[in-house]
Amino acid sequence: MTLTSAGPRSAVRAPFGPAVALACRECGTRTSLGAHYACLECFGPLEVVYDLRPVTRESVAAGPQSIWRYKDFLPVPEDVAAAPGLQPGLTRLVRADNLARELGLKSLWVKDDSGNPTHSFKDRVVAVALSAARELGFTTLACASTGNLANAVAAAAARAGLRSVVFVPSDLEDGKIITTAVYGGALVAVDGSYDDVNRLCSEVAADQESWGFVNINLRPYYAEGSKTVGFEIAEQLGWHLPEQVVSPVASGSLLTKVDKGFRELGAAGLVEPTPYAVFGAQATGCSPVSAAFAAGADVVRPVRPATIAKSLAIGNPADGPYALDVVRRTGGAVADVTDEEVVEGIRLLARTEGIFAETAGGVTVAVTRKLLAAGLLDPDAETVLLNTGDGLKTLDAVAPVVGPTATIDPSYSAFQKAGLA
Ligand SMILES: Cc1ncc(COP(=O)(O)O)c(C=O)c1O
Ligand SMILES: [Zn+2]
Repeated sequence: MTLTSAGPRSAVRAPFGPAVALACRECGTRTSLGAHYACLECFGPLEVVYDLRPVTRESVAAGPQSIWRYKDFLPVPEDVAAAPGLQPGLTRLVRADNLARELGLKSLWVKDDSGNPTHSFKDRVVAVALSAARELGFTTLACASTGNLANAVAAAAARAGLRSVVFVPSDLEDGKIITTAVYGGALVAVDGSYDDVNRLCSEVAADQESWGFVNINLRPYYAEGSKTVGFEIAEQLGWHLPEQVVSPVASGSLLTKVDKGFRELGAAGLVEPTPYAVFGAQATGCSPVSAAFAAGADVVRPVRPATIAKSLAIGNPADGPYALDVVRRTGGAVADVTDEEVVEGIRLLARTEGIFAETAGGVTVAVTRKLLAAGLLDPDAETVLLNTGDGLKTLDAVAPVVGPTATIDPSYSAFQKAGLA
């Protein structure tokens, strides 16, 4: 008897699961699943389209304790959870009553994605991109990053046994450089802004055929990973959609995909398709989407970033116009806050809920406060804030304003004098 590799299982194996094609977001032209990211007709960005199979709440609940419980909504093979990866997701949804009281909100939750393996939501997008990289035969995993993505790519590649090459602006926080470099891949610090880094990486991607840039030639797959933030929120709320979500915005991808996730859950019958509003948060020093929202413009005009919220410092956001569409369609808003307010936002979340967010989380909390004051967020509506990263990576932001409340000699009288009792 001869054994061949083309057995019945491999004959039906779908490397991208329920995904059937890539489609242009602008003109709708379809192209095959592959390492394509721009439409050949109009250069518009491509997005994954699916032929979704029936999914039940029970089948999701019986799945892995990671984003792979939602594999039926992602461009990944059925056996994706068996491949070596970081297994991100299923982070906690924290009831935030103390913060709600301070902000004057009736019902508030924090989706705390600092609990992911490299402490940001980027582990989700990288996990999906890694699966696509494997299926497409890439041997090097690469990215242009504002910091968190570099962590996630370097760590995921290490675990998957791939080479990694990550490119970051050279003025990144030490916390993000060190927490990337430790995984042992190539880390290239580029003297320029994130937008310069991204341009350079597009050139490199065009030339290096064995390199999968998670957010360039694998971007359609990568972006789908962010839907799992929306899926988890709905499941953790007991299978319903919140009424308001506040998301930080850099490229704008996360915000658009939380919306896509909510819509897919409604279409699949896993939740009632109840209305919700999506809000975007930026730092004033890099607020092209917020500026376009305020001006009522459809076009996002690029800016040169200058803010301590470096993870959000994308001056020319690829998904900016789509984020504006989502915000406007759902009745949300976009706002921005100063660096001082970002630091206050970090401290407020830490003081009220015991959650230490990075600068992006500070932006989200501070924008929430601002939108409430402006009457744009409904104080009576169930609201979820996305905390997408960990404060331990951006210690510099708060170091000047926090420290010991007293420094004393090791004697009881010194303790008494400090007035702590
Ligand atoms: C912590 C954190 N939050 C939010 C974002 C925004 O993500 P997006 O580019 O999908 O808008 C980023 C992007 O780097 C990030 O690092
Ligand atoms: Zn097109």
